[in-house]
Amino acid sequence: MSFSVLSIIYLLGSVTFIIGLKMLSHPATARKGNLIAAGGMTLAILGTIFLYEHNGERLHNYGWIFTGLLIGGVIGVLAAKKVKMTAMPEMVSLFNGTGGACAALISAIEFRHLSENVVTTGELLTILLGLMIGAVSFAGSMIAWGKLNGRIKDFAFKGQHIVNQVVLAVMVICAVWLLWSNDGLQVHHHILFYIVLVLALLYGVLFVMPIGGADMPVVISLLNSFTGVAAACGGFLYNNQVMLTGGILVGSAGTILTILMCKAMNRSLKNVLIGSFGGAKAGVAKEQGLYKAISLSDAAVVLAYAQKVMIVPGYGLAVAQAQHACHELEKQLEEKGVSVLYAIHPVAGRMPGHMNVLLAEADVSYDKLLEMEQANAALPTTDVVLVLGANDVVNPAAKHDPDSPIYGMPILEVETAKMVIVNKRSMKPGYAGIENDLFFQPKTSMLFGDAKQVLQQLISEIKQV
Ligand code: TAP
Repeated sequence: MSFSVLSIIYLLGSVTFIIGLKMLSHPATARKGNLIAAGGMTLAILGTIFLYEHNGERLHNYGWIFTGLLIGGVIGVLAAKKVKMTAMPEMVSLFNGTGGACAALISAIEFRHLSENVVTTGELLTILLGLMIGAVSFAGSMIAWGKLNGRIKDFAFKGQHIVNQVVLAVMVICAVWLLWSNDGLQVHHHILFYIVLVLALLYGVLFVMPIGGADMPVVISLLNSFTGVAAACGGFLYNNQVMLTGGILVGSAGTILTILMCKAMNRSLKNVLIGSFGGAKAGVAKEQGLYKAISLSDAAVVLAYAQKVMIVPGYGLAVAQAQHACHELEKQLEEKGVSVLYAIHPVAGRMPGHMNVLLAEADVSYDKLLEMEQANAALPTTDVVLVLGANDVVNPAAKHDPDSPIYGMPILEVETAKMVIVNKRSMKPGYAGIENDLFFQPKTSMLFGDAKQVLQQLISEIKQV
């Protein structure tokens, strides 16, 4: 009886994951989607704790289980409440790493359990896959976390890619050897199992170490998909449908997100992993022609007398935490009869959906956010574009310069508008480390300063116009 109730609970859990994932694809429904999926997960966890039976026995060590759940739950809630928007990739990385560690621990525990009796080759294969993928994901995520918060610097040595491949190959050979000798596992096979674990951890470290810090969101997304696959291995092992569906969904969503991010940057995954721009290698802008600066009062007049203004938010807006000031400016301009919209590039900022989340936090209405294609269609009829801390995503070199590292990356074509005001602190390059021709075009004016301060000053200037 309880088995069938548990099956229905697992089915419900899986359905909530799929609905939740679907709802995450729009900012207006994302929060609800998250709660629905979390509700399904809670149901599945409680169902497993109270209804799961093995050889006619239920779980009994409730003290340990609920203490663990309580500690993890409190840490999770506090961390999620305290984290700043710009530190979100770090937290995702840390949490993803713990998921990978869980999958690897399941494998380690079940290897000990099962090898006391008879372990089938299928079970051993699942255990080894969970161990290797989970451990790589754990170690890689920890390095990504350290890089994002600046504690770990990029590190690479000559021939590292060869060393990485050798470590990977030795790990796979050890795993195959274990599978091969499954008929009678000896003590040295147990040692081999832990060698596989150590090599997987080492590979995770070596794999992420040389990748530039700014490319970490792509790496984290990839490692996230690894964790999903490792969790799915646990689902196979325990014949647990909800773990299997959850793992597969995380695995496939992470893979799709990785591909989308690479596409939006017009870079292959190999290019990101082997590293071309984005880390310590980012160059310094070379001098190129003259640019013109605009004063705050002139910018205020231009904006207040425009009919249509398009705001392009970028990484600098997030760094300056200027989203609330930006919304304030939008309201000020609208009071003066100006129509204000936002142009959102898919990889503006440093993580997927960065700008949407940031602007939603400041209560900017979703229907004001235009995706890249819609924005590009609206730009030719826009009077003033206000670029706030964005650089690469408005760089025309992506369209015109085949030698540029960002050539082919789809961009917001702001130069088609009548006038462009660019706010940043200096003429320094952005993430790709390259010059931006837009800043030197006759219709562009530079408005230097920290985005938050500039916006606050602009708001008070506009009030007086
Ligand atoms: P970036 O090209 O990085 O440019 C951001 C600009 O903001 C910089 O040029 C910087 O110039 C300015 N800035 C920094 N702090 C500021 C502040 N406090 N006030 C005002 N301006 C400030 O950003 P983007 O245009 O958003 O492009 C994103 C880049 O990140 C792309 O190359 C993309 O491929 C990459 N990337 C994105 C993702 C995702 S998923 N979003 C993941 C990995 C990589 P100053 O220093 O002169 O102020």
